[in-house]
Order: sequence, then C-alpha cells, then structure tokens
Amino acid sequence: MQEQTLVLIKPDGLKRSLTGNVITRLSEAKLEILAAKVVSVSEELAKEHYQHLKNEKFFLDLIRFLRGEFHDCPRVMAMVYQGEDAIAKVRELAGATNPEEADPTSIRGSYGRIHTSGLFENVMHASENLKEAEREIKLWFDPDEIVEDLYPSQEKTQESVRQNVWS
Ligand code: CDP
Ligand code: MG
Repeated sequence: MQEQTLVLIKPDGLKRSLTGNVITRLSEAKLEILAAKVVSVSEELAKEHYQHLKNEKFFLDLIRFLRGEFHDCPRVMAMVYQGEDAIAKVRELAGATNPEEADPTSIRGSYGRIHTSGLFENVMHASENLKEAEREIKLWFDPDEIVEDLYPSQEKTQESVRQNVWS
C-alpha cells in the first residue's frame, strides 16, 4: 500500500553530522521524499508530537531532548517519505527504540546511545502507523510545503496574518 511517513532527524543526529548518513540509509527503502525542512522546535510542537507519552516520567526530558537542549542544537530536520509500505520500511531501517536493543546495522543501532539520564538518544523519529503518520505530517507541515496533495485541504485568505518576506 502506498503510504506516507514522517521522519525527524533529532538534534543528536544534527549535532553529530549524521544527516547525510541517515538519509543515505533511508534511501535503501527506495521511497520518495515529498517534503523536507529544518525546524526550530517550540515547546508546544514537541509536546504535541509526543502527546502519547505525556504520562511517562521521562516526558519532560524527552521534550527537552527534541528541542535540542541536551545537544546545544535547537532544531530538527523534518521530512515526509512516500512509497509502498513506507511506514514499516522506515521503522525497519530505523531499528528498535532502545539503541542497545536495536539491530546493530540499523540507524539507531549504529548511531544511537543511551544518555546518562536513561533517555534513548536514538537519532531519528519515524511514524508508527497510518493514523500517527497523518497526524504527525499535518502537525509538522502545511499543505503547501508538501509537493503532493496528501490530505484534503482548503484555500484560506488571511489578510491580517503577519509574515516575514524578503526585503
Ligand atoms: O520513537 P519510537 O516510536 O520508536 O518510540 P516511542 O515509544 O514512541 O518513544 C518516543 C521516544 O521517546 C523514543 O524515540 C525515545 O527517544 C524516547 N524514549 C525513551 O527515551 N525511553 C523510553 N523508555 C521510551 C522512549
Ligand atoms: Mg513513537
């Protein structure tokens, strides 16, 4: 089935110059990239992204990690990949959540580590299922930032919206 999935290269991946390595490894899945950008992650965005973990004791550390506070790197790279069984293929290449349990040839197995706090610094995020993929893609990207129309959208004229334009 043709699917889309959200990939984030987390701050540990950016700080350690692993962006190219991760993208090269993901290219093994022969998927298409439909969107990509570097994002400064607000507290609100991080909390919304990991809302399913809000009751975990590591939640606040996880939010700080995604916002780059542990790596002095306040950004992530966000991408949308598309293709046959994209969700499972990307999860397979990513490897298990715990980098010590991940297949050593996977991305997390190769590059992840466990922080002294116990938090898994596992280099990348990948959507877990179709519902989460849609929720996450809509959370991280506006319709115009993705080169295909993935989900229903509508045109809206907002005259009072302030935005920066090139001088
Ligand atoms: O990222 P994934 O879908 O594999 O795992 P998750 O259960 O959705 O957890 C999200 C993130 O929280 C993980 O990728 C880890 O960075 C972190 N985590 C952790 O540090 N310790 C755990 N016991 C579980 C998750
Ligand atoms: Mg998850």
